[in-house]
Amino acid sequence: MANLIIEPARSLQGELLVPGDKSISHRAFLLGALAHGSSRVLHGSASDDVERSRRAVEALGVPVRRDGEAWILEGKGSEVFRAPGSALDMGNSGTTTRLLMGILAGCSLEVTLTGDASLSSRPMRRVTEPLQRMGATFTPEKVPGLRPGTPELHLPLTIRGGGLKGIRHTPAVPSAQVKSALLLAGLSADGPTSVVEPVPTRDHTERMLRYMGAKIEIHGGLTPRGQTPTVVTVEPGSIQGREIEVPGDFSSAAFFLAAAAIVPGSSVTVRRVGLNPTRTGLLELLKRMGAKIKIVSLARNDELEPMGDITVSYASLKAVVVEPALIPNIIDELPILMVAATQAEGETQLKEIGELRVKETDRIRSMVAGLSAMGASIRSEGDSVFVEGPSRLKGAAVDSFGDHRTAMALAVAGLTARGKTTVQGSEWVSISFPDFEEKLKAIQRVKPR
Ligand code: S3P
Repeated sequence: MANLIIEPARSLQGELLVPGDKSISHRAFLLGALAHGSSRVLHGSASDDVERSRRAVEALGVPVRRDGEAWILEGKGSEVFRAPGSALDMGNSGTTTRLLMGILAGCSLEVTLTGDASLSSRPMRRVTEPLQRMGATFTPEKVPGLRPGTPELHLPLTIRGGGLKGIRHTPAVPSAQVKSALLLAGLSADGPTSVVEPVPTRDHTERMLRYMGAKIEIHGGLTPRGQTPTVVTVEPGSIQGREIEVPGDFSSAAFFLAAAAIVPGSSVTVRRVGLNPTRTGLLELLKRMGAKIKIVSLARNDELEPMGDITVSYASLKAVVVEPALIPNIIDELPILMVAATQAEGETQLKEIGELRVKETDRIRSMVAGLSAMGASIRSEGDSVFVEGPSRLKGAAVDSFGDHRTAMALAVAGLTARGKTTVQGSEWVSISFPDFEEKLKAIQRVKPR
């Protein structure tokens, strides 16, 4: 088990690039494999999670090769996919698993998906149930219902796909992974497939499908009369390979942006970060809390995903009450938001965040444990978290709980603490951000002892 040692920061200064967006990189490999013709993926994430997607499409018979900094995929459509000789190991990657289930649902193959202990305990019924209604079958290795609690479905699962019919589905919980799985399955259904979202989630799949030539329509959303459900409908059909430039990952940038907002005297710029509005809710919240933020948009790649440079400078923060409709937008930033809240004046309220309990770990539990050990005033009540600030944190030994975002969030908390912080189990950071430590140390001015 690796430890990440964090010394208190005097300030954070400078600029950096973060890895390519993980969500978009997964989609680039998966959609590139489904497409006809070659796709060139530039600045894709080299994280462990995205490697799972790349290896999965290779195992299905899609040629993938390196070309300098880019990856080239030679897609010939899912009709030529072949069943891998053994089970596909999804590792820790929920996005690979759920999106691939949508793709495999449309193929007449039998494929078994396995995962690590964390992934094998995450809920899959939310995606298998609608895919089953479309016509795919899922056979679990373990009989559902034998576990305590609800009869959930977990990996390992064997999928048999093909012969799908289009459906209309409203997911019970907002989830871009579930939406994406259905849209990808919908490409090979016998008619249109619609996903209804009362609360919008990240729209990377819709953007990439459209960019690659799919017939996709989006209705509703934010209208002059207010927020209405968004209905995304995809027609069956093929997609074409294209060049996909992946912006920097906003969710990785978030650790540095929040760190600059809470360490006095800091100013940090993260360059060419994705600015998709379904992902950048944290910026709106940091602004509301009083952070100083400057955004310079880059007029590139707008057809697919917007990107730009973001600068955050320190300012004293006040607490924020987060409205539940914003939660899906900031779902991956909630751990770092809890850290920022420890340094903000007043009570920050995060309600209806129960989805955090089924991420790579139970992030309500992991963050309350870590920040409490550091002396923060943080408590959970059911599926809500309340943080009272500001508190003077103290360095402590804290646990990643095998979760990359918990590890990085607690490392940032350590920057503001008195004394040394040790994040135990920091090897999990490579799930999304292999060079997090180097990037952090490059901009950190350490406090003299
Ligand atoms: C993701 C969607 C979100 C997010 C995850 C990536 C995606 O998960 O938490 O890190 O790429 O679609 P849910 O769909 O489960 O909310």
